[in-house]
Amino acid sequence: MNRRHIIAATAAAVMAGVVPAAAQTYPTRPITMIIPFAAGGPTDVVARIVAEAMSKNLGQSVVIENVAGAGGTTGATRLTQQQPDGYSIMIGHTGTHAASVALYPNLRYNPVTDFAQIGLVNTNAILITAKKALPPNNLSEFVAWLKANERTANNAHAGIGSVSHTTCLLLHAIIGVKPQSVPYRGTGPAMNDLVAGQVDYLCDQVVNVAPQVRAGTIKAFAVAQAARNAALPDVPTTAEAGLPAYQVVVWNAMLAPKGTPEPIVTRLNQALVAALNDDGVKARLAELGADLPTGNLATPAGLRAFLEAEIAKWTPVIKAAGVTASN
Ligand code: MLT
Repeated sequence: MNRRHIIAATAAAVMAGVVPAAAQTYPTRPITMIIPFAAGGPTDVVARIVAEAMSKNLGQSVVIENVAGAGGTTGATRLTQQQPDGYSIMIGHTGTHAASVALYPNLRYNPVTDFAQIGLVNTNAILITAKKALPPNNLSEFVAWLKANERTANNAHAGIGSVSHTTCLLLHAIIGVKPQSVPYRGTGPAMNDLVAGQVDYLCDQVVNVAPQVRAGTIKAFAVAQAARNAALPDVPTTAEAGLPAYQVVVWNAMLAPKGTPEPIVTRLNQALVAALNDDGVKARLAELGADLPTGNLATPAGLRAFLEAEIAKWTPVIKAAGVTASN
């Protein structure tokens, strides 16, 4: 949704007087926002920017709680166990609310029906990054290096089913390699170890990558989307770098537990949309390379349909990769 669409949606709601009665007193106390990964990673960074703006709109603090583990599914499970009263929400993503279905045979939640959808928060390009001391200097050299060092190369990621895991799985499937896997509780800590040179490479979201590439602490070989990312204009696309088949974009979505009253979901959506329209939020997300939702994705109904489509898209991809996790 571009700026004009977001503003139009908000204005229409206000003009129609559709702020429901039950939402008029909500919220009366702080709201907890579960982040299913470690602090300092891409989900956490985006969440804190948006939560700060939502706090101002709602007149109550939105407090971040990092609940990491099992590729983000621990935090998502935690949300389903909270009261559906609007005081517990979360940021889920492509991993927790799409890839998890195929990866976790014992997943304790249905990513669509066990949640009340609030709206899509942002989309994020994926970049192939490596520690500075890794010999390759471009994507072709990296692919050759990975094939030659398959047994010893180690791939950092944020746990089975996280986007850093599934997006590198896709890369491995295209190249035809199965390197060592090094799981973390988020790509915040994984990135720290990449910068320190303790792991070889990481497929990560632009939000986490852009500051490190600008600081010259890691290498970025390519961005896996059709156009270059405005936050890292010098990094080639995968097509430009010789691997056009590798295209993947991931997303963050705001969710509440199933059964959260509709007026409260509406109020939270209004606060989210207002946050995404805030000039300061837009500038900070743009600097990190994140994109705002398009079309109707920032609406509860739009997000629900999108989640169903994403599960349908990712399930065969994960099955083809032959990877599962048990929890
Ligand atoms: C994080 O915030 O650490 C990431 O979103 C994890 C991931 O899914 O790669």
